Amino acid sequence: MESKPQGKFTFECEDITPALRDSSSAGRNQVWKNWYDKLISQLGNSEYRFFNYGYLGQEKIELDPAEQDKRNFIELYQRTLGDTDLTGKDVLDVSSGLGGGALWISRRHRPASLVAMDLSTEAVNLCNEWYSDQRNLRFVVGDSESLPFPDSSFDVIYNVESAHCYGNFGAFLEEAQRVLRPDGVFCWSDFQSRSEMADIKSQFMDSGFTTVSFQDITEGVIRSLEFVRNGISEGTLDSNLFIWGGDTDSIQDVIEEFGDWRSYHCCQISMDSSARSSR
Ligand SMILES: C[S@@+](CC[C@H](N)C(=O)[O-])C[C@H]1O[C@@H](n2cnc3c(N)ncnc32)[C@H](O)[C@@H]1O
Repeated sequence: MESKPQGKFTFECEDITPALRDSSSAGRNQVWKNWYDKLISQLGNSEYRFFNYGYLGQEKIELDPAEQDKRNFIELYQRTLGDTDLTGKDVLDVSSGLGGGALWISRRHRPASLVAMDLSTEAVNLCNEWYSDQRNLRFVVGDSESLPFPDSSFDVIYNVESAHCYGNFGAFLEEAQRVLRPDGVFCWSDFQSRSEMADIKSQFMDSGFTTVSFQDITEGVIRSLEFVRNGISEGTLDSNLFIWGGDTDSIQDVIEEFGDWRSYHCCQISMDSSARSSR
């Protein structure tokens, strides 16, 4: 167990690399669930609302003053959605974590309803407590590989930096197609090793989705990581907003992994209705 100093905040984080390596795909989901539940049970008094590497584009999106310090996390959500129109739609966030992205989207994009789902009961309990005032937003517990919704429930599904946890990505894609309405849109982003990313791309191509484009956004993610690393070292950023706390060495390690063997991609794709009806 390692204990990370967080300024006024401390939490414990277990190394689950061996458990993940030795587990089946179903066991993998349980390992992640236990890990996130344990981590999040310690974060009730924290200011963390996002668990992602963030993204900084060349052009800044307009944000309210209170959102400025979460810009890189919010920009990752916006980059994942691309030009997808959510206004008045029924939307599903799969793996909503601490709900910062879902809250911003429910306010900025004004969907009719946004259901934010996560495997971690602890995360969902906290989100239900923190965001209960947001009328078009609700949080539920669920597994990406067995979505707890009837067929054709949503116009848009998005999924940010979470699929690397899933034991069976193909099962998630099938479930996403089942609960999307005809002509619904699926927006996705995540990091993976370059070889696994190529495999994910083929799974998208072979699924009933019409893959429009698969975009490499690694550069913008590295820009975000460098911004956080530099801001924390120079004392210009509040380390309590970032899950790394003051641990800039870990941020540097992630940046180097992207240089060596990882990439970060996103895509916005629509349902191919004919493929679905023939399933
Ligand atoms: C890296 S966090 C990303 C959270 C959020 N999307 C964000 O960007 O802040 C990954 C999230 O995936 C969730 N998760 C892991 N496996 C899952 C599964 N099989 N089904 C649903 N959620 C899962 C975890 O509980 C965690 O909240």
